[in-house]
Amino acid sequence: MEITAGTLHLRPWRAEDAGVVGAALRDPEIRRWATASPEIPDEQAWLADRIEGWADGSSASFAVADSTTGGVLGHIRVRTRGDGVGEVGYWVLPAARGRGVAGHALGAVARWSFACLGLSRLDLRHAVANPASCAVARRNGFALARLLAQPSPTGEDELVEMHLHTLVPPA
Ligand SMILES: CC(C)(COP(=O)(O)OP(=O)(O)OC[C@H]1O[C@@H](n2cnc3c(N)ncnc32)[C@H](O)[C@@H]1OP(=O)(O)O)[C@@H](O)C(=O)NCCC(=O)NCCS
Repeated sequence: MEITAGTLHLRPWRAEDAGVVGAALRDPEIRRWATASPEIPDEQAWLADRIEGWADGSSASFAVADSTTGGVLGHIRVRTRGDGVGEVGYWVLPAARGRGVAGHALGAVARWSFACLGLSRLDLRHAVANPASCAVARRNGFALARLLAQPSPTGEDELVEMHLHTLVPPA
């Protein structure tokens, strides 16, 4: 499954992406906001999980690449839970931030999820303290549905304030 969206090309992750994934998983912002673990995940295990998601139908994960050079810029994943609702998450490598990569990738994946996965709703959660992610969600029409308080992914005994945004297919 591949999606071309303007200057972006979304394609499944491959084992040979380990180098770029290893660098991403060590980035402080991605660690802070996008990996729900106090430990740095192993890149081979991370890739195996994303590839397995396609095989067992539990998730659709894409490497977001530059459509001209093929260079990887980021990641986006839709996890499905069997009731027609999906949850989307993403990160962008530091050098590629601030030029619309996440916003355009999210728009493309949302349209694909409704058309090809038949989802009836997409959820998106981000920490309230992460306004860039909030801007990405809002720019794509994800409405703020609720404020949540979730346990900290660092395992510390604290709650993190989160926004739950939702998007439904166009009528
Ligand atoms: C959040 C993240 C994915 C955004 O990726 P990106 O490709 O830079 O995003 P875009 O360029 O599409 O959009 C960034 C938007 O955030 C806004 N923004 C950036 N930093 C901001 C800040 N500190 N405060 C408010 N808005 C901010 C930009 O102005 C832009 O808004 P606009 O579309 O209305 O102009 C990226 O910063 C990242 O990977 N962060 C670390 C991991 C992460 O937070 N993942 C999301 C977990 S929920």
